[in-house]
Amino acid sequence: MSFYHSTEAPVHFSFSKSKMASDASITWWHAAPPIAALFYPFFLKGFSLLVDTEVSLATLMLAMAMSVPILAFFVAWNLGKAAHPIVSTVRLKSIAWLAIATPPMFTADGVLTYMGGQAVSEITLWVMFWAMASVIALITARNSRTSVVITFPNAKNFSSPRLRVAHGISAVVILVLFLTMHLTNHLAGAVSEAEHRHLMDIFRVIYRSRAIEPFVVLLFLFQVLSGLVLLRTNSHRPADFYKTLQLASGGYLAFFILAHMNSVFIYARRFAGIKTDWDFATGAPTGLLHDPWNIRLVPHYYLGVFLIITHLVLAARVVCIAHGMPPKRANFSSKLGIIIGAVIAAIIMLGMTGLQIGN
Ligand code: HEM
Repeated sequence: MSFYHSTEAPVHFSFSKSKMASDASITWWHAAPPIAALFYPFFLKGFSLLVDTEVSLATLMLAMAMSVPILAFFVAWNLGKAAHPIVSTVRLKSIAWLAIATPPMFTADGVLTYMGGQAVSEITLWVMFWAMASVIALITARNSRTSVVITFPNAKNFSSPRLRVAHGISAVVILVLFLTMHLTNHLAGAVSEAEHRHLMDIFRVIYRSRAIEPFVVLLFLFQVLSGLVLLRTNSHRPADFYKTLQLASGGYLAFFILAHMNSVFIYARRFAGIKTDWDFATGAPTGLLHDPWNIRLVPHYYLGVFLIITHLVLAARVVCIAHGMPPKRANFSSKLGIIIGAVIAAIIMLGMTGLQIGN
């Protein structure tokens, strides 16, 4: 059997007919991510019901919601350890990657069903989708004993170096033309709303100019498409912790970018005619924490910021190792970068939920 993908020469995977055992045995817990994802909106609902009366229980509910993508990451990591992945491993890993993107998927679900006049409720759609994914995952896990090993006769051609380089160059241009300003702008929100608005007025002159805005949007779309191709070409490969985190953050960002651009460009600016400013970002006047709809934006934004920084840090790690940096040093620097990313995301979210230094 052969698949044609990437810009390189065609790659031939053969599904060995012998029922060779994979070196990572598959159990029911590898099917857990879609089942957990099914409950994601209910954890957020629980938070909203409890936030004004039982703060500790509400916090637990939010932690349960956050644990959905985290659980999916650990399952993807565990499945990535198989040196000889079987078809079931690849399918379950793909479903786990999808479940990592639960927060932006649920945000997009809410926005799109609202724009569509709520002909079908967001919860109905959500439950139907994840129930189906859960059944597929459970059947895949149950049938894994009879699944076959995938072998790679020409593994060298496996992923396109040109596509990876283009993905990297495009990321650097996005960083320079938009992302550094955007994240600095949100960090300023942790000082005060006035500081955030002041910086936004300055940065908008650049990134919302006629020449730059369409270019940045095109680059983001290229990042999503090329990223998904790279993700797919890696789905059949073993992956360590760093590689899994790089792939998982890329998968999350593909959904985040599409959901976020839909909210900003199509929903707010075109559909609802809302200004995309501080009030829009923070769900004013109710805020992010005390509104049953807005609470979904907390994991969505937190992981968006954390994972974009993580993704860039891990890309830098690969480049540094390729240029001779000892892996130990590269790994230490990456861990430091990931921790800094988590702290930056937390500061931004604290500012957006009202904990500002200037107040
Ligand atoms: C706390 C996290 C974030 C919040 C609250 C947020 C919010 C916003 C807001 C309010 C805008 C409109 C800006 C304007 O009108 O000038 C915007 C635009 C945008 N954001 Fe974010 N954002 C966040 C993180 C991110 C991340 C991590 C990315 C990329 C991965 C991203 C990509 C974009 C893009 C592409 C636009 C469109 C820019 C344009 O108007 O040309 N955002 N965001």
